Amino acid sequence: MKALILSGGKGTRLRPLTFTLAKQLIPVANRPILGYVLDQVASAGIKEAGVIIAPETGQYVKDYVRDGSEWGMAVEYILQEPLGLAHAVKQARPFLGRSNFIMCLGDNLQGKGVTDLIKRFEKEKLDCLILLKEVPDPQRFGIAVLDAKGEVIKLIEKPKEPPTNLAVVGTYVFSPKVHLAVDRIKPSWRNELEITDAIQEMVNMGFKVKAEVLDSWWLDTGKKDDILTANQIILDQYLKGEVLGTIEESEIKGSVRVVPGARVTKSKIQGPCIIGKGAVVENSFVGPYTSIGEGSQVINSGIENCILLEFSMVKDVAHLEDSLLGKHSLISKNGKGRSVRAHIGDYSEVEV
Ligand code: DAU
Repeated sequence: MKALILSGGKGTRLRPLTFTLAKQLIPVANRPILGYVLDQVASAGIKEAGVIIAPETGQYVKDYVRDGSEWGMAVEYILQEPLGLAHAVKQARPFLGRSNFIMCLGDNLQGKGVTDLIKRFEKEKLDCLILLKEVPDPQRFGIAVLDAKGEVIKLIEKPKEPPTNLAVVGTYVFSPKVHLAVDRIKPSWRNELEITDAIQEMVNMGFKVKAEVLDSWWLDTGKKDDILTANQIILDQYLKGEVLGTIEESEIKGSVRVVPGARVTKSKIQGPCIIGKGAVVENSFVGPYTSIGEGSQVINSGIENCILLEFSMVKDVAHLEDSLLGKHSLISKNGKGRSVRAHIGDYSEVEV
């Protein structure tokens, strides 16, 4: 079993962050989402991963994953223009050869991991196993229709009028028969070779396609609020509270990780929170579900449910919540007046 990790694409929905970062590298709890995806693949015992990268953001992905040794895997990079998930499979053919493979989207994370899925796929000698999850907004996803026995009969990509609310989660297991199906499909209305169309073709061709409804959480970090939700879940589930940095005249409550080199002075921190390397919190309140990135500063402010990417700063702001700040960004308030001062890049959004 090999792994194919999709870390290409355009990331237009997450601009401006994705002008200078691949969307799979947006940190939750101060670590790229892609890192957790690779953790899950590695913990299933997989040793070979192909990582799909796009021309614009590929170098950022390479700088993070490097040779894969952090995960005990050998990594091969596959450059792809973002022409669809099935196109990525096609592009990866030389790497995949005749292997079965697990395909994971680098910006999708689900709470079940991949080990049990792979076991079932192998035990039942399947050609395709997909994961489904009931969602409130099925128009945003690939959607599955099952028959009374739970067999997949139809898959539709982002239907305007979804027949069910069962979304296709970004974790798939395939036998090499998927390549036969990929060769038979045509680009969709958005000019992409859709993996849902390829799986539909596998059903039409009579291959063994099964689906499983996910009984855990699933995060598709396509938009800002999805990333804040991912941050909450990861802080809740994976954070090891530990104070290793410097704490001066401050109160720390709940699960809080203060990384070595961070400093908290005259402040109150209410976990779950993480405060990254070299970050400074001074005379401030940091509320639950906040991740403060390396070198960032929170001064005379109150923040809650926020992600601060590296070297950003919040100064003299009484209350900032539900916010995602890009690298080196600054939000401050004019000391005397009511005005807030911001240094905002192209495509940014501010609600005051
Ligand atoms: O999130 C699950 C959904 O992912 C499924 O329900 C859909 O059936 C599936 O088509 C896909 O939909 P999206 O339109 O949301 O996919 P997106 O363009 O966001 O790409 C998903 C990931 O794959 C993302 O990490 C970027 C990467 N990608 C995407 C394309 C189109 C590539 O590596 N290459 C590509 O050509």
